[in-house]
Amino acid sequence: MKTLHDKVVALTGASSGIGRCLAQQLAARGCRLALADVDEAGLSETVASLPPGTQVTIHLVDVAKKEQVYQWAEDVVAAHGRVDVVINNAGVASQGMIEDLDYDDFNWVFDIVFYGVLYGTKAFLPYLRQRPEGHVVNISSVNGFFPFPSNGPYNCAKHAVKALNQTLIQELRGTNIHITSVHPGGIKTNIVRNSRIIKPLSPKLSKEQAAARFEKIAGTTAEKAASIIISGILNNKQRLLVGKDAYLLDALTRVFPQGFSNLVGRVMLRE
Ligand SMILES: NC(=O)c1ccc[n+]([C@@H]2O[C@H](COP(=O)([O-])OP(=O)(O)OC[C@H]3O[C@@H](n4cnc5c(N)ncnc54)[C@H](O)[C@@H]3O)[C@@H](O)[C@H]2O)c1
Repeated sequence: MKTLHDKVVALTGASSGIGRCLAQQLAARGCRLALADVDEAGLSETVASLPPGTQVTIHLVDVAKKEQVYQWAEDVVAAHGRVDVVINNAGVASQGMIEDLDYDDFNWVFDIVFYGVLYGTKAFLPYLRQRPEGHVVNISSVNGFFPFPSNGPYNCAKHAVKALNQTLIQELRGTNIHITSVHPGGIKTNIVRNSRIIKPLSPKLSKEQAAARFEKIAGTTAEKAASIIISGILNNKQRLLVGKDAYLLDALTRVFPQGFSNLVGRVMLRE
């Protein structure tokens, strides 16, 4: 997509972190926005932070609920007349060893992280088909190619998002629709604060302390992540790594596929 000016962008997870920064930067480029989230107060804060005159609609949507996502797609087209770009960004994480997790813990993450992205893709594809050019951005993670211990549901769901993206790239080749699979490393956002800690990896840390530690370690700001994702759309990137740590992990997993994984497991679980 050569320009984002005047494009209609549907974006999930717009109340916080990467989603909020995407909304701000897309608005600055002249996009019309349809912002979705479960956090109504956060959506209002995002809208208040947009440049004056931005054409924006807000939608309370739980991406884990298929009917709500399909209704949202209809509402976006009713309000804006069309949709050019869909960014499936909403996500949650959980912490706990697979042995300690219930199936409900897996379902919670999968319903949002994987099915939310699947619904958000399929609900909008018929509308994107009608445009000269359409773009779907699905946010996976470095956990989509490298699993970290104590992150089982998130690892599995983000791997599934990567597989979904790769399949879509194969199946939509030669059409008007581009897919970008995004794999961020650590980004300074509320992701840990918003996560469900079923059994903490570091029991001595409170959730707030764990969130503060994550934000200290995470190497990339949400602003920077959003600008990288936007340049990925403008360059029709199929696979996008976000952050130096993502590039490093990508290289290490290619060169030492099992050895590096064993090392990370040993170091993280020793804590
Ligand atoms: N922060 C990181 O280090 C990092 C790394 C890799 C990937 N990611 C991914 O980036 C995306 C954005 O996360 P973030 O880091 O900005 O986190 P965040 O917690 O700051 O923002 C996530 C947003 O998703 C929304 N959300 C959660 N459940 C929802 C649901 N059921 N329906 C609709 N909205 C819902 C939240 O309300 C929130 O606004 C996620 O997919 C996340 O997995 C983040």
